[in-house]
Amino acid sequence: MLAYARHLLTAGNRYDVHSPFVYRLITDVLRRKTMPGVHSDLEALRGEMESRTDSIQVTDFGAGSHQLRGTEREVASIARTSLKPRRQAAQLAGIAHYFEPQTVVELGTSLGITTLYLARAAPMAQVHTLEGCPNIAAIAAGNFARMGAGNIELHTGPFTQQLPQVLARIDRLDLAFIDGHHSAAPTLDYFGQCLAKAHEGSVFILDDIHWSADMEHAWTLVQEHPKVVITIDLFHFGLVFFRNGQQREHFKLRY
Ligand SMILES: C[S@@+](CC[C@H](N)C(=O)[O-])C[C@H]1O[C@@H](n2cnc3c(N)ncnc32)[C@H](O)[C@@H]1O
Repeated sequence: MLAYARHLLTAGNRYDVHSPFVYRLITDVLRRKTMPGVHSDLEALRGEMESRTDSIQVTDFGAGSHQLRGTEREVASIARTSLKPRRQAAQLAGIAHYFEPQTVVELGTSLGITTLYLARAAPMAQVHTLEGCPNIAAIAAGNFARMGAGNIELHTGPFTQQLPQVLARIDRLDLAFIDGHHSAAPTLDYFGQCLAKAHEGSVFILDDIHWSADMEHAWTLVQEHPKVVITIDLFHFGLVFFRNGQQREHFKLRY
């Protein structure tokens, strides 16, 4: 909470931005108050997940740990705590819609609500979403089927195993959303793997970059990566661009 307050105090807005690319992104996507990406049926599905009374056995890959632990968790609690809330899901959808990706990779499906937002925002895209816990993945698969999402492919298993397989099938990765395993070393590893398929127009979105000191460190290293040209810190998300020929700049914005 304190970190978010600090972000709001130190972050800029469109008047602090001189990059035409970032200025357009702000005016066309980030600043839009109407949240055009919110879908009432997906929000009804979220509400349904939040009201479930059953529990499932969760395979927890743990932030930074390779140990697998079996834990009983209420589906409602997963829905309330693990998913991007409505506003952030809509913001992601806005970004996906704006960049018109053909190939999307999401690391961390959970119950699949955000995946559905991404898939709808980019209807021409093939959306690959990765989830380690089979019982969580089964609920997501049911949600994709119910919503008739034809452009989502769910890959169940640890990222270490699934990501190389998914990337091997992709020539160009247009949009990556890295939202799982929130610790520095694995985040940087997944970022590096995705980078091998990135191009000038790709956008990578890292979730929870201020979740811990470790994740803040990962974000700093991403910003310093020689292939990274522009980053935007939105607090909840960090956006990364690889636009050759542009001035290297790091923005912190309050949207
Ligand atoms: C924060 S949730 C994803 C939320 C989802 N993107 C959304 O916004 O609705 C992270 C998910 O990633 C999965 N996960 C975390 N670490 C993983 C790993 N190393 N391999 C596979 N899955 C992992 C967890 O099981 C969890 O369901």
